[in-house]
Amino acid sequence: MENFTYWAPTKYVFGRDTESRVGELAASFGMKKILVVYGGGSAVRSGLLGRVEKYLADAGIEAVSLGGVKPNPEDDLVYKGIDLARAEGVDSMIAVGGGSVIDTAKAIAVGVPYQGDFWDFYSGKAKATTALPVGVVLTIPAAGSEGSGNSVITKREGRIKTGLRTESALRPRFAVLDPVLTFTLPPYQTASGISDMMAHIMERYFSNTPDVEVTDRLCEGLLRAIIEESPKVMANPEDYQARANIMWAGTLAHNGICGCGRQEEWTSHAMEHEISAVYGVTHGAGLAVVFPAWLRFMADRNPGKVAQFARRVFSVEAHDDRAAALEGILALQTFFSDTLNLPVSFAALGIENPDIDLLSDRLHALKGNPTGSYYPLTPADSRMIYQMML
Ligand code: NZQ
Ligand code: ZN
Repeated sequence: MENFTYWAPTKYVFGRDTESRVGELAASFGMKKILVVYGGGSAVRSGLLGRVEKYLADAGIEAVSLGGVKPNPEDDLVYKGIDLARAEGVDSMIAVGGGSVIDTAKAIAVGVPYQGDFWDFYSGKAKATTALPVGVVLTIPAAGSEGSGNSVITKREGRIKTGLRTESALRPRFAVLDPVLTFTLPPYQTASGISDMMAHIMERYFSNTPDVEVTDRLCEGLLRAIIEESPKVMANPEDYQARANIMWAGTLAHNGICGCGRQEEWTSHAMEHEISAVYGVTHGAGLAVVFPAWLRFMADRNPGKVAQFARRVFSVEAHDDRAAALEGILALQTFFSDTLNLPVSFAALGIENPDIDLLSDRLHALKGNPTGSYYPLTPADSRMIYQMML
């Protein structure tokens, strides 16, 4: 196990009716004038946005709203939000939504106190050490942004989708996790969220760092719980207990605890970010296509951890590592396709003729050559993995 610092200071307020605590929580963190960010309409239709505004008003907090965040959020709304936040003199942000909304709120939060272009933080030109405080009312368990220090934004010019990773500046101060708010999710979004949280665990699990038994077991237990709870939420979107378990899993998957003591991977995410940047697909659905292909490539080159995953998560019994790995990958892919009804190929994602050279070139331009650590990928390798998704 490697030395590590685990810093996850977000105050999680979890359970039924917790949404009504948002005013009290905001006040407890000294928020006085808030920019409330939301998405394309689900929070308006459900009445949640109006209720949040009322909870804030009841707590004596002023609020200004900014809607219209789209999935795979883009920089234009961030610039608009920074201008609005400055003009209104807001001191903090609340995101009402999922990863796209939270990441937009975080980008605005880091951009407001900065004199230059907020994109400098995403391009690596500047280091983010300070930001307006962010609170979250989560409506979809998926990206894990409610507990992470990260934000992923797409720059329209050049369609560059990239993440800013901070240790503490962008960790939300609080996150309200009310499973009832997820009852209205369409099945495709529920499923894509589940695929994304599983990927967040697996990106940390597929590591060459030895002797991380506790962290491995946390990951395996979380994955097994997600696999058990998923058919319940898919069959009955209003199954409170299953929704609650999936929601908590999504947060734990990405708040850092699954990575303690080891090198993390993240190549499947980088490969998927190129697909969603170029073709605009849902992030979690893209991951259901990428991850099995990446794993199959690894089964032939570094099968040890893949075999452990197969045996411990899917109870595969095969003695040979490669055989066990392949059986586990098939079980994962079948879970994605049959339990979650997610696409597992480019064609099923709606991409008939993907430009594999373009995807691979963009991947290495952003992430370097080679990229990854479990088995570093050259451009020929990444092209082969993209080919395996056809
Ligand atoms: O926009 P609205 O109308 O709200 O609809 C949203 C959106 O269409 C809908 N939705 C959300 N909650 C709902 C609901 N519909 C009905 N009822 C509800 N309760 O769901 C759709 C997807 O929302 P989005 O926020 O895009 O989903 P998600 O949480 O999966 O976020 C995806 C984004 O997060 C990034 C992804 O790359 C992608 O851009 N990620 C961010 C990470 C981070 N900051 O740490 C890590 C992740 O790996 C990921 O890359
Ligand atoms: Zn993700």
